[in-house]
Amino acid sequence: MDGCVKLTPPKICRHFDMEYDMKKVLIASLVVVGTLAVASVGFAKEPIEPIGPPQGINVAQAELGKKLFFDPRLSKSGFISCNSCHNLSMGGTDNLKTSIGHNWQQGPINSPTVLNSSMNIAQFWDGRAPDLKAQAGGPIANPGEMASNHTLAINVLKSIPGYTSEFKAAFGKGPIDIDQVTEAIAEFEKTLVTPNSRFDQWLGGDKDALSSDEMAGYTLFKDSGCVACHNGPAVGGSSFQKFGVVEPYVTKSTAEGLIGVTGKEEDRFKFKVPTLRNVELTYPYFHDGEAATLTVAVNTMGRLQLGKKFSSAENAQIVAFLKTLTGDQPSFALPILPPSNDGTPKPEPF
Ligand code: HEC
Ligand code: HEC
Repeated sequence: MDGCVKLTPPKICRHFDMEYDMKKVLIASLVVVGTLAVASVGFAKEPIEPIGPPQGINVAQAELGKKLFFDPRLSKSGFISCNSCHNLSMGGTDNLKTSIGHNWQQGPINSPTVLNSSMNIAQFWDGRAPDLKAQAGGPIANPGEMASNHTLAINVLKSIPGYTSEFKAAFGKGPIDIDQVTEAIAEFEKTLVTPNSRFDQWLGGDKDALSSDEMAGYTLFKDSGCVACHNGPAVGGSSFQKFGVVEPYVTKSTAEGLIGVTGKEEDRFKFKVPTLRNVELTYPYFHDGEAATLTVAVNTMGRLQLGKKFSSAENAQIVAFLKTLTGDQPSFALPILPPSNDGTPKPEPF
């Protein structure tokens, strides 16, 4: 557990102990496949579980968090909001290789989706934030992203009468602080789940929900061992795995993964397994954004993670299956933000 010292909440250290070498991955997938063979009558045991509706949401805080998520005044430029890089009209991503931050800076890494991110064991590709609340303060003060700082962002919010009353109503106590801001944003993010995909309909017993090609793709996904890492309700998000198990991944990106958090050499190039929910919408793929299409991503995964070379027909079937994971996208009226007042600190776009 010594690698966990830098991580305050003990919660995620548990997961870091889950070491997967290839042998264990294969054993895990055999166990999964074996269980499925036993349970193949009926829908009892699948490695992927349906997504349920969000539970126990504090509506007032989530509604406030929605506004903050869309509010560019949390950035120094007054131009960049969470939604700039996690566009909820585009699967919760920016569909760029790497994001554009303050002053048009090129970001170092691909923006993961915020959809279903509450199901992740930790946040960021390397898991350095234990949960959504801990994550949400980061981008506001990151000079390469929103480039503000927490004091300035709080001063902006405090100057806006519409916000002071809404924070008061949502939290019952003042004054506005960064803790309330990140709490509200996290509460909103918990609502960003995508139930009712065609795959979930199939899981629920609708045998006609998938075509025969999609079904064949799912069988390949299970039998090849993809499910050893991509499983559970989010079809990922539940462990850190080495990228390049059988063959190394070649990239210009300098991201090193989990080792940056634990300091353990064995964690070099381990990344949080991304969710494959809505993966049809969240291109381009991988932490460096270098895989432009699902065809390329599936081919790379087969070769590097499992030592498998899929035929183009097999690849197309897996891609067809992956596209059945697109669920109902969050849908709501665009929030109308309370106006600044005369004393609100002015944006500095340039
Ligand atoms: C300039 C683009 C940009 C902005 C603005 C931005 N993000 Fe991100 N976000 C990213 C990138 C890039 C990552 C991945 C960083 C990493 O893993 O090192 C990320 C990661 C995340 C994650 C983790 C998801 C996962 O699966 O690990 C969440 C949640 C998130 N951002 C929410 C937010 C919220 C909330 C805001 C607004 C307060 C915000 N982001 C603003 C680009 C951005
Ligand atoms: C040993 C664990 C492991 C196995 C097995 C595995 N993956 Fe992955 N998968 C990962 C990791 C880790 C990443 C993130 C890689 C990165 O960008 O750093 C990933 C990324 C992906 C992505 C890109 C998602 C995104 O949003 O960037 C797709 C698509 C994918 N995997 C599909 C598959 C398929 C299909 C299979 C089976 C052929 C498979 N994976 C097998 C661990 C695994």
